[in-house]
Amino acid sequence: MTEVTDRTNFFEGHDPRELVAKYGSPLYVYSEKTLRLRCREMVSLSSCPNVIVNYAVKANTNLTLLKIARECGCRADISSMGEAVAAMEAGFRPDEMLFMVNNVSADELSFAVEKGITVCVDSLTQLATLGRLNPGGKVAVRFNSGVGGGHHENVVTGGDGTKFGIMPDKIAMVKLLAKQNNLKIAGITHHIGSQNWGDLYLAGVDAILKIAREFSDLEFIDFGGGFAIPYNKQNGEKPLDLRALSSALDSKLFDFNKEYGKSVNFIIEPGRYIAAECGVLLGTVHSVKSNNTKNFAGTDLGFSVFKRPTVYDAHHDIEIYRGQSAASTKTKNVNIVGNQCESGDYIAKERELPELFDGDIIGVLDAGAYGYSMSCQYNFRPRPAEVLIQLDKSVKLIRRRDNFTDMLANMVGL
Ligand code: LLP
Repeated sequence: MTEVTDRTNFFEGHDPRELVAKYGSPLYVYSEKTLRLRCREMVSLSSCPNVIVNYAVKANTNLTLLKIARECGCRADISSMGEAVAAMEAGFRPDEMLFMVNNVSADELSFAVEKGITVCVDSLTQLATLGRLNPGGKVAVRFNSGVGGGHHENVVTGGDGTKFGIMPDKIAMVKLLAKQNNLKIAGITHHIGSQNWGDLYLAGVDAILKIAREFSDLEFIDFGGGFAIPYNKQNGEKPLDLRALSSALDSKLFDFNKEYGKSVNFIIEPGRYIAAECGVLLGTVHSVKSNNTKNFAGTDLGFSVFKRPTVYDAHHDIEIYRGQSAASTKTKNVNIVGNQCESGDYIAKERELPELFDGDIIGVLDAGAYGYSMSCQYNFRPRPAEVLIQLDKSVKLIRRRDNFTDMLANMVGL
């Protein structure tokens, strides 16, 4: 249940209204404490010693967060040259990255080869292209293991009908092409989708291990990311049962280790699990109205700032920060909408919330993953600033807000 709150747990004693007054609205706020905790949980997920965590940097690419993830023992899962550049800037070495390519150009592949980053191809044609660019090198291959799932059809990446991976019936072809191009298949990977609970993830592990048995000389097997977080905590949703997941995973990995007869690393690629809960997006209510049957609270949280509700109909818990004096107990069914010129621009639909007023600060919880990283400048609005509440509780600006000079600078030829 959403309350008007002065809850400052997340903010380590800072008042969210003061953060907005100082750094502007909207504002992404991250908690270093939560980020480190989530990294540690992933790094210690399995007691099998050869499990590696590749943080999927697409979830949040802020350099300060990347540095912290690395300090916590994560390596990096990257999906573009830009993500590679950011990861290197944050201190990840090329041998600590795996480049999961999907339809990238030969230029991007050459960049990876030049830097010494292992590439994971997900089509036969890209396998052949890489062979031309890196004869004698190593490659990883992404399969579609047949298992897929996620919080929305747009994030399901395994099973029928997705563009990702190579189907297992092409294994012989993969081996042949690798041989013809003098490439060593060092690893195989899959990724079933996003926001999955333990059972489906484990079904995926079984499916990719089955494919792994077709290869005799692997250095690593990558199970992908997709671990779920509870977005609906205000209605009692519980977190992933890490203990149960860990023990089920352990028994599969120890068994496989024994059976395979060669030491092999296992990789997991969490993005959301690491970054989502360490982030809260703050915004401001600028207008309140009723249009016939619907109530609207209009904010500066347009979908250029936060896309997940618009793109996936995703639920995010909301908090309201107002200060005690103006607290109201009356609730109202409300749509929290943004400032973009489109009707699909909303943060929360038909939500029973304490009545909202102009000037209220609202917090969109669990916004650290796929929040800033999916933001844009639609309607020519600057993307927000990002701040980190550090372990010593001090606040550090870790990305400044876009300004119009930056935004105009790339447009040349006037
Ligand atoms: N590995 C690969 C190859 C991926 O494509 C992804 C995410 C991950 C790992 C990390 O998945 P995660 O642990 O974060 O679920 N924008 C969507 C999520 C798209 C994820 C794309 N790939 C959202 O906001 O829900």
